[in-house]
This record gives sequence, structure tokens and C-alpha cells, in this order.
Amino acid sequence: MESPVKILIIDDEVGIIKGCQRVLEPQGFTTESALTLHEGRQKIENGTYDVVLLDIMLPDGQGIDLLAPMREKDPDLVCVVMTGYASVELAVQAIKAGAYNLIAKPFSYDMLLVTINQALEKRRLSIEAKRLRALEQDAAALVAVAKEELERLEHFKKTFSLTTAFTLTVAHEVRAPLTALQSFLLLLRKGYVSPDQQEKIIETAIERAQDLLDLVDDLMNLATVREELTAPNRKVMSLADSLEKVVPLLKTHAEDKGLSFTVDVRHRPMVTVNPGQIAQVWSNLISNAIKYTHAGGSVKVILEEAGTWAVGTVEDSGIGIPADDQYRVFMEFYRTSQAKEMDHRGAGLGLPLVKRIVEGYEGTIEVESAVGKGSRFVFKLPKAKSSENLTT
Ligand SMILES: Nc1ncnc2c1ncn2[C@@H]1O[C@H](COP(=O)(O)OP(=O)(O)O)[C@@H](O)[C@H]1O
Ligand SMILES: [Mg+2]
Repeated sequence: MESPVKILIIDDEVGIIKGCQRVLEPQGFTTESALTLHEGRQKIENGTYDVVLLDIMLPDGQGIDLLAPMREKDPDLVCVVMTGYASVELAVQAIKAGAYNLIAKPFSYDMLLVTINQALEKRRLSIEAKRLRALEQDAAALVAVAKEELERLEHFKKTFSLTTAFTLTVAHEVRAPLTALQSFLLLLRKGYVSPDQQEKIIETAIERAQDLLDLVDDLMNLATVREELTAPNRKVMSLADSLEKVVPLLKTHAEDKGLSFTVDVRHRPMVTVNPGQIAQVWSNLISNAIKYTHAGGSVKVILEEAGTWAVGTVEDSGIGIPADDQYRVFMEFYRTSQAKEMDHRGAGLGLPLVKRIVEGYEGTIEVESAVGKGSRFVFKLPKAKSSENLTT
């Protein structure tokens, strides 16, 4: 300890005080003394000490009563109780009440020095331990703050770059058809177009406008997917019914394109879903199969049950998806190069929507595919519980 060690001796025998001082002061310790409990209490309250040598029997009370004020003043203040044979009992009580050690009167100089040094060591250790604990706490608090800060930053970085990337992609997707539309309109206004070409240009313009509408619809469906999943929007319904509703239009598309189109409803499982969203699942999967299969190919839709699951399968003999791309096709805006080559229309938002919907209902979707051979998309939804069935 840097500042000189200060020892307070509380004893009503002047001889003891003098004796202690004679031993301690040559060692460089500073001492103070008190002859009564009252005086001792005042010194403790007003001064600072490293060790208190405390007589247990004082004229105005028991030394033990000073232990509490000592602890209050300085929890690391070390108290050594001096005791004669008559007061051993009290000394033991003092130890129990928090005194560090006792030294029996009469004691030798050596004994006193050993005891004082032990007491000082004890004080040094407990101050050191406290300092370490505080350091540890400070360090832990700093680490926690730093970690929190880092997480916030990461989150910010992630959402910021995600929204920026998303907005840029959307802007890019919207810009292309808009530019096309604008140039068609400019051509028409300038009157550069022969009457027989006009029809064609207007037709293409209408298609581009439709692309834009599809894109906007996909974006809106994606944005509201979570809300649409919620309980108030759900009802118990037959998955077969929802399939049969979307089939006629899609079947016409397929046959117009020269594809064989079959639907095989093996079971009619009930599911608890938002009907609009389930129609989106079917029509996205089936229209992809039609879109990405060349004339002469086939599209097959199967609905069945497997245990607690309703299982929908849409398979085609189309262009297929390279193995490396099979997880990417569920990511927003991703389209394979084969798909872009075959059909320039499409924003790549259909499968991400399907995946979010299916997973929102605690279901799964998987794809198996081989390039040039075809693809099979299989989605599973939990069947409605029979208790849910009763409520329909
Ligand atoms: N049946 C399929 N056969 C081959 N490729 C497919 C099929 N379905 C989806 N894909 C691939 O997944 C991509 C993402 O599909 P989707 O999100 O519906 O976008 P889009 O229909 O606008 O191209 C497609 O661009 C295509 O590359
Ligand atoms: Mg699609």
C-alpha cells in the first residue's frame, strides 16, 4: 500500500497501547489510539485506517459493537481482537461478527507483528479482489456495449444494403417495360408507323403494360404475404377445390402452347389457409411449368396426402434448372440463364412468393430438376386438424 499503514489501537490499558506503538512505529506504521468505545467509534467514523486492534472489554461497552460501524466505514478494514482469558467467549463472538483474527493477551512483539502483517495481507488481498471484480465487471459491460453496437451496425448495414439492392432491382425491372412503352407511344405520335404495323405495336405495348402490372402485383403480394397469412384471413378449405379453380385457364394456356396437361387428384386434403394465397401457389408453380417447357412437352399436377401432410406436385418435361441454381430460384429476382433465354418476360418473384407462403403455413417446398429433362416442384402443407374440420 502506497500511503503509510495506519493502525488504530482501541484499549483502555495505556500500557498495551504504548507497547503496541513501540513495536509498530519503528516498522513505519502510523498509529492512533482510543481508550474508550466512544472515542474509538469517533475515530473510526472520522479517520481512515488499515487495521484496528480492538480490545473486547472497554469501560463503556463491548468492543464488538464497533464491528458494524467499521464495516460500514470501510468493508476492507481489518479488525484484530485483543483478548484476555476472561473474554475468550466474547472474542469468538467477535470473529463470528466479522473480526478477522484474535490475539491473546499478553502477546509478544513478534506475535503482534506477525498478526498485523497477516491482517494487512488480508486487506491487500480483499482490496485487490474487489478491484479485479470491478475491472471484470467494467470489461464485461464494455464488451456488452460493444457487442450491442456491433449488432446494431450489422443489422443496419444488412437492412440498408438489402433495401437499397431491392429498390434498385425493382427500379430496374420497372424501367425496362416503361421505356419500351414510352418509345412505342412516341413512334405512334410521330406517325412513323404504317397502319398495318400500328396494330402490332399497340399489341406489344399492351403486353409491356401487362408485364408492369404483373410485376407490381407480385411486389404487392410479397409485401403483404405476412399479413395475408394471419388467422383472420384463413379458413379450412379443400386443397383440391383451390386447384380445380385455377386449372381451366392454365390448361387452356398449356394446350395453346402444344403441351399435354394432366391433373391427378388422388386425395382431397383439407388445409387451413388463405384461399387467395393458395391459388397463388398453384398458379405460380403451374404457370412456370408451362412457361419453361417447349411445345410437345408435358405438365402434370398431382395432389395427394401423406400422413399429416397435403402434398402438391407440379412436374414438367421442360428446360430444367442447373443444380447450382436450384436454391437460388427461390430468391427474389433470380432467373436462370436458360429461363431468360427462353422467355424474356418474368421478374423472378413467383417462386420467392410461393416459398414464403408455404413456409408461412409451416409447410415446405422442394425442387428436383435436371437440365433439358424437366423439373418437379413438391410442396407440403399440414392438413387441417379434424377439430378444425368441424368448424366448416
Ligand atoms: N418449371 C420450371 N422449369 C425450369 N425453370 C424454372 C421452373 N420454375 C421456375 N424456374 C426457374 O426459376 C426462376 C424463378 O421462377 P419465378 O420466381 O416464378 O420467376 P419467373 O417466372 O418470373 O421467371 C425462373 O426464372 C426459372 O429460372
Ligand atoms: Mg414464375
